[in-house]
Amino acid sequence: MVSFRLRPGKVSTVKTVHRRLATLNDSNRLFDLRRQSIIKLAAKGMSIEEAARWAEELTVAGIERKICEPEIWVAEVSEKVVSWGAIRGDQLEGLYTDPQFASQGIGTELLRMLEELMQKSGISAVRAEASSNAEAFYLRRGYERTAPPTSKGAQPIRKRLS
Ligand SMILES: CC(C)(COP(=O)(O)OP(=O)(O)OC[C@H]1O[C@@H](n2cnc3c(N)ncnc32)[C@H](O)[C@@H]1OP(=O)(O)O)[C@@H](O)C(=O)NCCC(=O)NCCS
Repeated sequence: MVSFRLRPGKVSTVKTVHRRLATLNDSNRLFDLRRQSIIKLAAKGMSIEEAARWAEELTVAGIERKICEPEIWVAEVSEKVVSWGAIRGDQLEGLYTDPQFASQGIGTELLRMLEELMQKSGISAVRAEASSNAEAFYLRRGYERTAPPTSKGAQPIRKRLS
């Protein structure tokens, strides 16, 4: 288990975050967390209808398949899963933070860990499709646009891992 401390001087109730691979016992929590993050956080940058459609794209069974790959990592605070991210090959397939724990650096740190894992496995660049609400988040973390938005409005992005 790896842990990190959030930047000092920042307003946060969170002191230590642990990270680990997800297990099947996490699947319901990951489903709920993803749904909450999309409805409460992503919907600030898209319509409620779009957010609802996106939230419905992944089921508990779909999450269980990803856990078995294994490709889902979680961040925990006091043994509660507060953020999760999924990777497959050179693709970042999702990053979600519980709205109650948002804007405390947890998503950034989990993203950094996923990028490090990819780099250690020999991947030279990470690819993702950013939802409209999260595009600026990724661009501020070194990602660049690689193509026009998809028909679903997602922005293809990439970051070189060096
Ligand atoms: C995108 C998402 C994962 C970010 O998660 P998060 O844990 O809130 O991310 P962070 O806290 O690291 O950063 C978010 C903002 O919080 C602020 N912040 C970061 N670290 C902070 C800290 N230590 N203290 C206070 N504020 C902080 C910053 O303003 C930061 O944004 P910026 O640096 O780009 O301006 C989250 O908003 C989410 O789940 N959104 C819905 C789902 C989604 O869109 N996922 C991505 C597409 S798959």
